Amino acid sequence: MLARSISVKLNVNIKKNISKLSRMLCNWRTITTCSDSQVDDLVVPKQEVIRFITESMHKVGANREDAAVVAQHLMTADYRGHFSHGMNRLAMYISDIDNKLTNPIACPETVNDFQAIALVDGKNGLGQVVGKYSMELAIKKAEKYGIGLVSTRGSNHYGICGYYTLMAMEKNLIGFSATNTSPLMVPTRSTQAALGTNPLSIGMRAQNDEFVLDMATTAVALGKIEVAFNKEQDIPRGWALGSDGKITTNSGEALKNHKLMPLGGAEEHSGYKGYGLGVMVELLCGILSGSFYGPNIRYWTDANRTANLGHCFMAIDPKAFGSGAENRLSHLLSQLRALPVSSGEGVLVAGDLERKAMAKVDTCGGIEYHKNQIRICKELAGKLGVKAMELIKKKHYD
Ligand SMILES: NC(=O)c1ccc[n+]([C@@H]2O[C@H](COP(=O)([O-])OP(=O)(O)OC[C@H]3O[C@@H](n4cnc5c(N)ncnc54)[C@H](O)[C@@H]3O)[C@@H](O)[C@H]2O)c1
Repeated sequence: MLARSISVKLNVNIKKNISKLSRMLCNWRTITTCSDSQVDDLVVPKQEVIRFITESMHKVGANREDAAVVAQHLMTADYRGHFSHGMNRLAMYISDIDNKLTNPIACPETVNDFQAIALVDGKNGLGQVVGKYSMELAIKKAEKYGIGLVSTRGSNHYGICGYYTLMAMEKNLIGFSATNTSPLMVPTRSTQAALGTNPLSIGMRAQNDEFVLDMATTAVALGKIEVAFNKEQDIPRGWALGSDGKITTNSGEALKNHKLMPLGGAEEHSGYKGYGLGVMVELLCGILSGSFYGPNIRYWTDANRTANLGHCFMAIDPKAFGSGAENRLSHLLSQLRALPVSSGEGVLVAGDLERKAMAKVDTCGGIEYHKNQIRICKELAGKLGVKAMELIKKKHYD
């Protein structure tokens, strides 16, 4: 606790450099997701990723323990193949600390605790630290009452929802987590962004198997439009609106406007269901907790206001309902995977692609980063005065 209360003062030169670097990293965001530009034959071992992020976060004010929480989370996102929410978020976190928009030493606090439910105030701390605290509380409650539900306010970007789901799954519980985010989604029939990508995740372990759904409630994340833009490709109808408020297939126009369509796309393709899911996330996050919500949340480019995001965490003990749930889930998942297919590829269940991504990292001996990510990390290391990430030769992968 004492260590937490010691504010780490940034030295002026480091601060100047971080601001410059953060701006540079924001520009670089548009090229982070090209998969064809990894550093040839080189990977970064998972532990080295954790070491680098921990040292970087510690350098800008987080205590070592909290810095390691953020590092473990961002590494896991990259490990699972969600590069849009891993290492490339480090710059945004550093920028928010630098701009005094996030307090890197804040301690989350339980402000309301009633049997299976609780309300947590994140005190504007690091999103992953607040998220871990809140899910641990939900897990404790599920172990006692069969279910635990925690709604959280006063938080920041907390990374991938699936991380918290997995925390509950490790304890053989069903996990659920969701978060509100900066406005990007245009509700059905509107022309203005008023909800975030508002992702949610639910998961449960089965016998030698698992189901881990982890998804945004927009048709796609902005990152997928960035990929299309960088490849000079059009985007499908139903992903985004252009400046005229009409559906656009021009990736550049879509990227400039930041107006994503809800999951499902246009009204005739049931986009109102994705819109409804986005509001559902707000119900559990912003509305329950009293954080900012919907269009009242800062835009993601706004460096002048605190985020005050809301999250929701739920853990459910299947055994509280009786026995056999794990076996039934195994049965269901194997039935789904065995279904006849329309093309050469087999039916998947949520979480399969992430398992494939992790298996690849394990076989290669580390995470394959885009060459620009490696370069930026090297510059960040120099400016913060931390040891640069060490790359190693990739092991053979078929
Ligand atoms: N914190 C934030 O602000 C924020 C905002 C948006 C997204 N995110 C995170 O970004 C990540 C990516 O989100 P996304 O919506 O782009 O995910 P996605 O579209 O890549 O995958 C969504 C889900 O679909 C499953 N899936 C993919 N292909 C499948 C198939 N063929 N059959 C069955 N299931 C399949 C995946 O396993 C995953 O569970 C998530 O981890 C999410 O939590 C975070």
